[in-house]
Amino acid sequence: MNAMTLDADAWRAAGDAGLAAAIDLRRAIHAEPEVGLDLPKTTAKVKAALAGLPLEIREGGSTSGLVAILRGPANGRTVLLRGDMDALPLQEDTGLAFASKHEGAMHACGHDTHVAMLAGAAAALCARRESLPGTVMFMFQPGEEGWHGARFMLDDGLIDPVPDVAFALHISPNMPTGVFAGRTGPLMAAADRLTVRVLGAGGHASMPNDAVDPIPILCEIVTALQAMMTRRVPVFEPSVLTVAHIKAGTTNNVIPEDAWMEGTIRSFSETTRATVHEGLRRVAEHVAAAHGARAEVNIIPGFPVTVCDGRITDLAAETARALYGEEGWVTMTHPLMGAEDFSYILQKSPGAMVFLGAAPEGGDYRTCCALHSNRMVLNEDVMARGIAMHCAMAEAALTAELDL
Ligand code: NI
Repeated sequence: MNAMTLDADAWRAAGDAGLAAAIDLRRAIHAEPEVGLDLPKTTAKVKAALAGLPLEIREGGSTSGLVAILRGPANGRTVLLRGDMDALPLQEDTGLAFASKHEGAMHACGHDTHVAMLAGAAAALCARRESLPGTVMFMFQPGEEGWHGARFMLDDGLIDPVPDVAFALHISPNMPTGVFAGRTGPLMAAADRLTVRVLGAGGHASMPNDAVDPIPILCEIVTALQAMMTRRVPVFEPSVLTVAHIKAGTTNNVIPEDAWMEGTIRSFSETTRATVHEGLRRVAEHVAAAHGARAEVNIIPGFPVTVCDGRITDLAAETARALYGEEGWVTMTHPLMGAEDFSYILQKSPGAMVFLGAAPEGGDYRTCCALHSNRMVLNEDVMARGIAMHCAMAEAALTAELDL
């Protein structure tokens, strides 16, 4: 990339100028969080924020996702910028003045700030439309938290044509404030849900020999799975299998007929993913068979691995440094075990997802409450940097010499 083409001063100023509106929008969305694929109040706020801008709005289909399209005067590349809009089903305990008014829902993953930064970037890029050598798609997506919102928007034909470059920001209280961070290759894990049901034979708890007690069998499967993970999966292929929920029985003197568990599988390649799936089935079914019981294994595929393109990640790093100096960028040493449905977009287009540190004022990013915590709070001022980064990344992706 020719760094001279990047108008860093202008984008920094645009970020600063957009901060007040971004804070207002973020707080309004934070106060009325919505969960899942249907987010009517949130999309109404997005549309109000975009009203009057020279954008083509696409919506409809199976979710309340919307895409706003900005066409510059030249027929160049298309770059997609994504902001996810959904909240999580948990009760907020932050005590903020603009805390959630919706019982049992909270913007605990910072997606309210993602919407506000993306809307701010849309306004700033629209103001410089005449100098834009291509098209920018602003993707406001619902249902990132396990609902496959990005996949639905792709299936609904809202992301058309397939963008040449895709970019997303994710805020994080657990990274140094104002710093952008990313990495080439796998960034976030594939996440699959597993369930195992062990079918035995019920009976009197005093006479287990007349029954087939599923509980010790299920427990044996839990520990055998951990042995499988360390003995069968190569140590340089990071993966996790966690049993997080077990259910069996009703009282002290009854052996139940069945026992059930569920958990999560995380992996960073399709090969490892397949190894773990196969190992899970083999171990569960054969441990159960060894004790005269039967195991039913179910694996529900979740998001694929989030893989960042090296060229676009380098472009993001150069852009962050051009905006905020050498300290503006950190290359992450390892991926995160969380999962992200921006992975569906990155399966179609070369792109990058980048974190933006936002530890709250007076907080330590190493110890403050993490994303998905009921007490998670953010430094809102970093949204100025997020707006500037979105704009500068769009400009860089439209102008850089890239062999796409
Ligand atoms: Ni998130």
